[in-house]
Amino acid sequence: MQDFSFYNPTRIEFGAGKIASLDQLVPANAHVLVLFGGESARRTGTLDEVTAALGEREVQLFGGIEPNPSFETLMEAVALVRRHNIDFLLAVGGGSVIDGTKFVAAAALFEGDAWEVLTSMGQNIEKALPFGTVLTLPATGSEMNQGSVITLKSLQAKLPFKSELVYPQFSVLDPVKTYTLPTRQVANGVVDAFVHVMEQYLTYPTQAPVQDRFAEGLLQTLIELGPNALTEPQDYSTRASLMWTATLALNGLIGAGVPQDWATHMLGHELTALHNLDHAQTLAVVLPEMLRQRKAAKIGKLVQYAERVWNIHQGSDDDKAEAAIKHTRDFFEAMGVKTRLGDYGLGAEHIDGIINSLEQHGMVALGEHGDVTPAHCRQILLASL
Ligand code: NZQ
Ligand code: ZN
Repeated sequence: MQDFSFYNPTRIEFGAGKIASLDQLVPANAHVLVLFGGESARRTGTLDEVTAALGEREVQLFGGIEPNPSFETLMEAVALVRRHNIDFLLAVGGGSVIDGTKFVAAAALFEGDAWEVLTSMGQNIEKALPFGTVLTLPATGSEMNQGSVITLKSLQAKLPFKSELVYPQFSVLDPVKTYTLPTRQVANGVVDAFVHVMEQYLTYPTQAPVQDRFAEGLLQTLIELGPNALTEPQDYSTRASLMWTATLALNGLIGAGVPQDWATHMLGHELTALHNLDHAQTLAVVLPEMLRQRKAAKIGKLVQYAERVWNIHQGSDDDKAEAAIKHTRDFFEAMGVKTRLGDYGLGAEHIDGIINSLEQHGMVALGEHGDVTPAHCRQILLASL
């Protein structure tokens, strides 16, 4: 096992009806800005529930944070925070609203140009407003981590940042709130959580058996319960397990003490920024060929994944790896998330642009060994057509 430092200060309030606990979680004298996305929070009644729980506190609302939240929209929220002396933020939504709120928390107190929060990848954040979240879409793990991904629309750039100062103080996870999700978002959430586990698990063996077993348990839970959520959207126990699985997939626990990859995510971000695919759609396209193209370096873990997660015990190591990659693709397809660039109207003519963007963003040495170059990414995209 590698050395590590593990820190996670986010309180989780999990269960049906837990939004009522906002009254204890948010300071009584706080001046709160509630941030949300399009219309889902209002339409589903969650926003009303939240404002009711906040009682007599001074509350302002900021709606309109789009999927893949943009710098441009978030700077409007920053202006509102400054204008009204807001001192507590509350995100109500999925990964986009939570990521956006993290940016607002840091940018509102940032003394230079807020754009530098992103160009420094969060390293120059010195303070941030406190905030909590009410999660409505299990997928990203943003509710219990220090990461965020923001899009600059004018540059078509989707850039990650992280800082210990943007862990949520608390997150309310009520599985009932996920019943209203469209099928596409349920499927996206399962695929995103699955790939988060893979980015931290499918690297090379480092004698970290507890991290491996946790990761394998999360993957098996997603494989077992993901399809249930599509066919029985109101099954509480399925929704509850998926919600907690997605949080555990990216709250730092399974990644402590092991190498991490993230090449699939970095290449996927370019696909979203340039061609507007949903985040999980990009991962479903990239991951299978990413694994195949890097099979030699990952063979130890691929075989372990094949045997323990998919119960594949026949054939050579290469056979097992190939079968596991095929099962992975089939699982994404069975969830209804397409796995080929062509399924999203993209062809060979789009690949140069994607590779140029990767280079422009300095994503030229990706993966657990830093040896995944733009040339490899080109091969991966060609194989994913
Ligand atoms: O905008 P509204 O109307 O609210 O609708 C949203 C949105 O259209 C809808 N939705 C959310 N909860 C709902 C609901 N509809 C009905 N009922 C509900 N309960 O779902 C749509 C998608 O929401 P979004 O927040 O964009 O999805 P997700 O949670 O998948 O977040 C994706 C974003 O997170 C980033 C992605 O890059 C992407 O920008 N990620 C953040 C990470 C992190 N912070 O650690 C890691 C991830 O790898 C990922 O990169
Ligand atoms: Zn992701």
